Amino acid sequence: MNFNPPKGTDDIFPPASRAWRRALSIWERLAERYGYDLVIGPIFESTEVFARGVGESTEVVQKQMYTFEDKGGRSLTLRPEGTASVVRAYLGSGSQGVAKLAYAGPMFRYERPQAGRRRQFFQTGVEYVATASPDADAEVVELGYRFLEELGLDQVTVALNSIGDSVCRPAYLEVLRAYLDGQRDVLCDESLRNLETNPLRVLDCKVCAPILSDAPNAVDFLCDDCTAHFDSVRARLDSVGIPYRLEPRLVRGLDYYTRTAFEYIATGFDAAQNAVGGGGRYDGLAEALGGPAVPGVGLAMGIDRILLAAGDDGTDVVPLDLFIIVAAPERREVAARFLSELRLAGVRADMAPEQRSVKAQFRAADRRQAAGVAIVGVEWEDDRVVVRNLSKSTQDVIKREEVAAWAKGNR
Ligand code: HAM
Repeated sequence: MNFNPPKGTDDIFPPASRAWRRALSIWERLAERYGYDLVIGPIFESTEVFARGVGESTEVVQKQMYTFEDKGGRSLTLRPEGTASVVRAYLGSGSQGVAKLAYAGPMFRYERPQAGRRRQFFQTGVEYVATASPDADAEVVELGYRFLEELGLDQVTVALNSIGDSVCRPAYLEVLRAYLDGQRDVLCDESLRNLETNPLRVLDCKVCAPILSDAPNAVDFLCDDCTAHFDSVRARLDSVGIPYRLEPRLVRGLDYYTRTAFEYIATGFDAAQNAVGGGGRYDGLAEALGGPAVPGVGLAMGIDRILLAAGDDGTDVVPLDLFIIVAAPERREVAARFLSELRLAGVRADMAPEQRSVKAQFRAADRRQAAGVAIVGVEWEDDRVVVRNLSKSTQDVIKREEVAAWAKGNR
């Protein structure tokens, strides 16, 4: 048997996983600070959640879903994204008011794997449900931007667009379809098919989009309400100092979007996959799932891609505060109790799992990048231990109850 993970998936193993842990804890704190509660949903859903929610004509639904039949004959799909699922859960919860929901977890899309494009990838996201306010759109865009900022990812551009709603989109699509009809001879086969079912997708086609530079843009066909909404979103972003670039060609690959659409582009990241996150408003999604009209806006950040773009390989570890060195086997029991006390006191501490020579334990402390060691030896009889700061090479004998403060002081 070979020990590699399935194609397009990764084992996120130390040290890389340390960067993940850091990113996920930054995410959790930030989402909480912005008032988002946690929602944990199933990793698979009834296939129709995505077929109806994300849209039958999208690439995700047509080509990328991991769909299977369970033993009871139900068609299930590993979630390719979180939004349709979260809105389904919101509708199922019987909630009626505004909900601010955060989630994090793996998503699955059968894609051609490459760097930053995986078959299992990890998203953190929020959904701000049951509000049509442009303030919500701006808050969500800001949250994603702050996340990237806190992670130290600079050179990020927010690409922003409005793609209209059910009032103005039909007229735009008609104009777009007429334009594309005149370009049939240059369109690829897939775009020719999409022209009928989902002309917006043609603007997202890697092959055709570059040659359609004079195609009409949705933002030029917005109705008054959509224009006012877009203006407010931009004004809010300006007032909180979030830089963005208007990107009239940004259409996004999922069908549920109305009005605001945005992506975070890591400009310093030299790869085909440079959208490290994205989102938008989806005022028709709840109805598409068979529920009442419930507006909403949200985003999802791609953690795999963010860490790749940040070049964070996890080698920049949070070191241990203290490694306990046990001078003799008969002191292991008290040392283990001491370790437990220190951890309770908030010290990041550890010791070797088996008794080795003192020299070997010092080597282990180095490997673990401990800031200091405490040697449990004969001094213990006197309630004291020898402590050594490994970077300064200073040594002292201190009281056992002083060790926690000493160790934290080395941080
Ligand atoms: P999305 O643009 O499809 O949006 O995905 C969001 C982010 O997930 C992307 O910007 C990217 O960083 C990451 N991502 C997507 N596919 C892959 C992949 N195959 N491998 C690695 N990373 C990937 C959504 O999923 C929407 N649900 C976002 C949203 C939330 N809209 C409203 N609320």
